[in-house]
Amino acid sequence: MSDNKIIVTGGMGYIGSHTIVELVNAGYDPVIIDNLSNSNVSVLEGIKGITQRKIAFEEVDLSDSNACREVFSKHKDAVGVIHFAALKAVGESVEQPIRYYKNNIFSMINVLEALTTHHIDNFIFSSSCTVYGEPKKLPVTEKSPIQPATSPYGNTKQVGEEILQEAMAIEDSTIRTISLRYFNPIGAHKSTLIGELPLGIPNNLLPYLTQTAIGIREQLSVFGSDYNTPDGTAIRDYIHVVDLAEAHVVALTRLIKKQNKSNYEVFNLGTGKGNSVLEVIKSFERSTGEKVNYKIVDRRPGDVEAVYADTTFAREELGWATKRDLDEMTASAWAWEKKLRGQ
Ligand code: NAD
Ligand code: UD1
Repeated sequence: MSDNKIIVTGGMGYIGSHTIVELVNAGYDPVIIDNLSNSNVSVLEGIKGITQRKIAFEEVDLSDSNACREVFSKHKDAVGVIHFAALKAVGESVEQPIRYYKNNIFSMINVLEALTTHHIDNFIFSSSCTVYGEPKKLPVTEKSPIQPATSPYGNTKQVGEEILQEAMAIEDSTIRTISLRYFNPIGAHKSTLIGELPLGIPNNLLPYLTQTAIGIREQLSVFGSDYNTPDGTAIRDYIHVVDLAEAHVVALTRLIKKQNKSNYEVFNLGTGKGNSVLEVIKSFERSTGEKVNYKIVDRRPGDVEAVYADTTFAREELGWATKRDLDEMTASAWAWEKKLRGQ
């Protein structure tokens, strides 16, 4: 058995590709399994440009149980799995709930079965701060109440966490799991060789903003200015994707070294700082010198007013904290957008 091979499902995607780079930096040997449903094979070139390494890649749909079984038996010497593979568009999940449940839940179950079969004991799950819904108290700790999901996508994260909690609770489980609840990842690797590749019209703030600044979109809509926040726009905890990627390496290593306190642990991954939509726009303008054409429109249905993380548990238990500030996030998102458009 190799002692550093890590399977990264969804490793061609936005967070996955940045995590591959940090895994290589930390001396791990990652293998990507991805069906390219929301990514492009060219990502491998970007990763190679940064790490000078050709990463093994398996094009497989993990919601197909036979295909999943086959690819895991090929890589059964892995010591851990980071499971990013999922569909993630909230609005689309409302339109296509069955597709979302099938993709996200089947994939997770198939992967867990493969882990059990091959005694791959260390598992990291991509969860989301969406599980907290509209929090009654801020910042949110890992013990803050979980609210009913407002979309099939959000529900796949909640159900995913519940399945893991129950599966890890059985006495003969040898698998150790950490669920990481991401707040709002933005930005890109400083090399501009990898970044976010949104297909079609972006739903998320940063890609919409950078596409507006570069002229692909005419105007950014700021969804609501009547929230009960200092400037009236909604507040989120934006985290640099490289900080997030580094946290995966720390969490995985904790499991591999058996430093975990229980077989199922949950951590918030955020900066602990909330920023409003207008503050993000100001940061972008400050860090890039570009102007953003925006207008205030009505609230977006389903949006929460404010959410940001209490980071105490991650800091104390993982010994991890973010290093990059909002200006670095917005500047790197812009550098990536320009690179994508050949500027
Ligand atoms: P992404 O879409 O860029 O990456 C996901 C990758 O998984 C893609 O490359 C896609 O092709 C692949 N994939 C999807 N279904 C698959 C399947 N059945 N088999 C194999 N590969 C499959 O998304 P991301 O932003 O990198 O998100 C990664 C994970 O983090 C997801 O689970 C997402 O739900 C979660 N998450 C993301 C955010 C965010 O803001 N980006 C926030 C919270 C949680
Ligand atoms: C959304 C999802 C969340 C998911 C996350 C990552 C919803 C309700 N939530 O989080 O479940 O985990 O994406 O995919 O969709 N905004 C604008 N104009 C825009 C886009 C966004 O003003 O064009 C505002 C939003 O109202 C919000 C903030 O920017 O206040 C961040 O939005 P977004 O990037 O879409 O992330 P979330 O809504 O926090």
